Amino acid sequence: MAIQISPSILSADFTHLADEAAAVSPNADWLHVDVMDNHFVPNLTLGLPIVESLARAADTPLDCHLMIEDPDTWAPGYAEAGAGSVTVHAKAADAPVRTLREIRNQGARAGLALNPAEPVEPYADLVGEMDMLLLMTVEPGFGGQKFLDVVLPKIRRAREILDSREASVWLQVDGGVSSETIERAAEAGADVFVAGSAVYGAQDPAGAVDSLRAQAASASGRG
Ligand code: DX5
Ligand code: ZN
Repeated sequence: MAIQISPSILSADFTHLADEAAAVSPNADWLHVDVMDNHFVPNLTLGLPIVESLARAADTPLDCHLMIEDPDTWAPGYAEAGAGSVTVHAKAADAPVRTLREIRNQGARAGLALNPAEPVEPYADLVGEMDMLLLMTVEPGFGGQKFLDVVLPKIRRAREILDSREASVWLQVDGGVSSETIERAAEAGADVFVAGSAVYGAQDPAGAVDSLRAQAASASGRG
């Protein structure tokens, strides 16, 4: 699978979201949208109405990362609102299999997310239910945090699990991904990279997307 870059609008200017989306189009593969409810994480961002508007305004498909309680109730609505991918946190979902299936039934790709301290092995049998596995490389809630190298061995183990099952499941990393850290994550086996501050904090966000992609591609040997 080719390397993909998903800039996180958490680090963008929320008063100009359509312009910020356009600033990384067509270079970015996805636009990462962090939905936070101030319960699952101690931060509050945006919800369905903004995702609905952004899905209409942006040329890039939306990669919605739900950091919310009760994703079983809410996640299918994000797919219905036009997101191309909807990711729920394993520990927040009461019925992850049903929820992943409902996301797919609404026509979106279904993702499952794990926090840095959560092991991947218990989810090995669920690989067939997901289109993407998201391994957080910071504790979720805020942009601009430092990449947690402690997650690297888990990225390697997750890559082995996915490869051994011959599953076409993407392996995403989110948090602290930058020109300093993306090569380590790519070498470990990640293929979809979320980057907030490294893209929107750059003078040239589209150029930052291209150079992150080039670094990841050469580190991983993937095109
Ligand atoms: C953090 C969010 C990330 C965040 C990443 O909880 O899930 O998507 O925007 O920001 P950076 O790339 O700045 O660490
Ligand atoms: Zn995120």
